[in-house]
Amino acid sequence: MNYSNRRQSERVKFPLLIRINNDVGGVQKSFAVNISAGGCFIHTHTPPEVGQTISFDILRGSGEVLFSGEGVVVWRKTEKDDPKEHGCGIKFTKIPPEAARTIEEIVASELERSATLKEYKDGRDLDEKDRTPTIGIKKSRKIIGIDLGTTFSCVSSVVNNKPVVIPSRQGYRTVPSIVAINEKGKLLVGNPAREQLLINPKNTVYGAKRLIGRKYKSKIVQEIKSRFSYEILEGDNENCVVRLGDAIFTLEEISAFILKELKEIAESYFAEEINRAVITVPAYYNESQRQAVKEAGRLAGLEVERILNEPTAAAIAFGFFKGMKKRIMVYDLGGGTFDVSIMDIHDNVFEVLSTGGDTFLGGVDFDNRIVNFIVDEFKKQYNVDLSKDMIIMQRLLFAAENAKIELSSATEKEIHIPFVSLINGKAVDIKQKLTRQKIEELTSDLVDRTIIVCEEVLSAKNIDIKSIDEILLVGGQSRMPLVKKKITEYFHKEPHKGVHPDEAVAIGAALLADSILRNENVLLIDVLPMSVGISLDGKKYLKVIPRNSQLPTERSITLLNPIDYQSELNLTIYQGESPFLEANEMVGELTISNLPRVPRGNARINVKFAVDPESIFKISAIDLKSGENLPVRFINYTNRKDLIKVMIETPDGNERYQKEIKNSETPNIINNKDNKKGFFGWLKSIFSKQ
Ligand SMILES: Nc1ncnc2c1ncn2[C@@H]1O[C@H](COP(=O)(O)OP(=O)(O)OP(=O)(O)O)[C@@H](O)[C@H]1O
Ligand SMILES: [Mg+2]
Repeated sequence: MNYSNRRQSERVKFPLLIRINNDVGGVQKSFAVNISAGGCFIHTHTPPEVGQTISFDILRGSGEVLFSGEGVVVWRKTEKDDPKEHGCGIKFTKIPPEAARTIEEIVASELERSATLKEYKDGRDLDEKDRTPTIGIKKSRKIIGIDLGTTFSCVSSVVNNKPVVIPSRQGYRTVPSIVAINEKGKLLVGNPAREQLLINPKNTVYGAKRLIGRKYKSKIVQEIKSRFSYEILEGDNENCVVRLGDAIFTLEEISAFILKELKEIAESYFAEEINRAVITVPAYYNESQRQAVKEAGRLAGLEVERILNEPTAAAIAFGFFKGMKKRIMVYDLGGGTFDVSIMDIHDNVFEVLSTGGDTFLGGVDFDNRIVNFIVDEFKKQYNVDLSKDMIIMQRLLFAAENAKIELSSATEKEIHIPFVSLINGKAVDIKQKLTRQKIEELTSDLVDRTIIVCEEVLSAKNIDIKSIDEILLVGGQSRMPLVKKKITEYFHKEPHKGVHPDEAVAIGAALLADSILRNENVLLIDVLPMSVGISLDGKKYLKVIPRNSQLPTERSITLLNPIDYQSELNLTIYQGESPFLEANEMVGELTISNLPRVPRGNARINVKFAVDPESIFKISAIDLKSGENLPVRFINYTNRKDLIKVMIETPDGNERYQKEIKNSETPNIINNKDNKKGFFGWLKSIFSKQ
């Protein structure tokens, strides 16, 4: 077959990465679309001249090389010719025969898919016919998309070519990210856990996403731990753990309970066992937090196919298969985190240009402002401090959140909580009138903080504000009218209304999950959210890879042995932008061993930091003199061996984890005094269905 004469109609917009190996004046890495066995289009700002020969590798988004070859530039378009679709067309002059076959397969499957792809609407409901008939449970290859939120989580899947949110049996489209233990020692997840938050706040864990992957001693945790109604303690490896009843759980385990609930919602809907997922995380999560979410997925019995950034997921939900060429900004203000990403969408290529955020800014901070205001007013009026009573505080928090949500559409609302105190033998209620104006006054500096982050994300890459075509608002808190007002003022543009703020992230994850099953027909080009650096002496911070570097990326540094004849070198790895070491987040410790035994300054060790497309690190070291690889141990604080205990097994598989716990040296459990059946009885009750 003559592959170079394919018809134009048999080219597809299948996106792949291209790496150019010879000097063509500027382009080194880009993406290629419209691939056929005869050639492709390379997107670039600096297209090489017509006639220039090119030697290249074609890669999948994951970094896997599909094939290498040679080609020649046959036409070019500069930015002036076309501001959105500039680049060049190359004709392949030499590609291996297997490559031609691979392209043929990709083209055929994509043509078939475009023919059957139905126009999807965001947040579309499942039809009854989409439900798999229940004839026993079968294993499936399905990959679900999960938005693991601070306050609510959501699971989605692509069914008959359309992405849909999977409702729970009770018909809820989102699940509260709350885990609790009730008086009988039974584990509650989601809505039942949320219901008991008011009566049993001490044994109800919420907001786990704010603590996961963080050191107990970190400044942030020390500042916030007293604000939670449950107990936060220091666990192994310096991480945070929480107490639920008589047991201690890691945050990975708490998140795993939520993930397991979502997995079961999908399994019960499709009557299939599901064990693969794409899980989203805030773009501004560091490596430890990402690793911790992967670990949580594993504990829940899910293979995490990809960790996806939430704003990128929302962009996929917005732009997938729409033939779009746009620069967008995603503004994601959820319950607990704030993220901004600016990205270019070219068909199914999602290229992040700059990203930033604040993992401690979200709806709960707005709620706290309202609560503090009411507590202060009550104190002024009655000289009674309500803040000591956890139960009243929880009732107040609920009421404040409800009022805040109502005030996004109404302009006035009264909070009424009966009987909160006894004063001179008389019951006193909280009665507080709130107006939209009042909550705007109380929280406007929080909205201003989001605008400062937007500003900073634009300036980090010198992006002209006028070049943004659309602003997508995602996350429940972005529904607040003040957010829309301040965004419109700052960008001189109304935000786009087309994506569902609660569901877009899960939908995007499901679309990416589906793409993984289909040859990866979505290409994500992401950036490193925060700089990676090291400290050798525990004082100075040396940045190795700067923030916003395109992924995957790698950088090397050369280190000399500081001590005579030393055999090991230890480094601490940090992430962050501050010149002050302690203001950055510690992500792990690195030990390089088998150093050549030579006097100080004579060993030259090249340490390579590689960051994969999901912002996860791989570190290696070479002795430059001998050229030998040196053993490297990177202890990320979430790579823990003792996590094997509770999660993966179901009630009938109890034996396995009993053994594992007995074998474990640090069983992570505090004596269970109250439960006569002991720990295993309690464990069993956790796993028994309600
Ligand atoms: N109409 C509304 N007006 C104002 N705030 C709202 C409205 N609806 C929901 N919220 C707030 O949005 C937040 C929840 O948003 P969302 O479900 O997007 O967050 P999440 O995914 O749980 O959190 P995150 O993405 O930060 O991890 C809550 O704080 C809720 O009070
Ligand atoms: Mg969210």
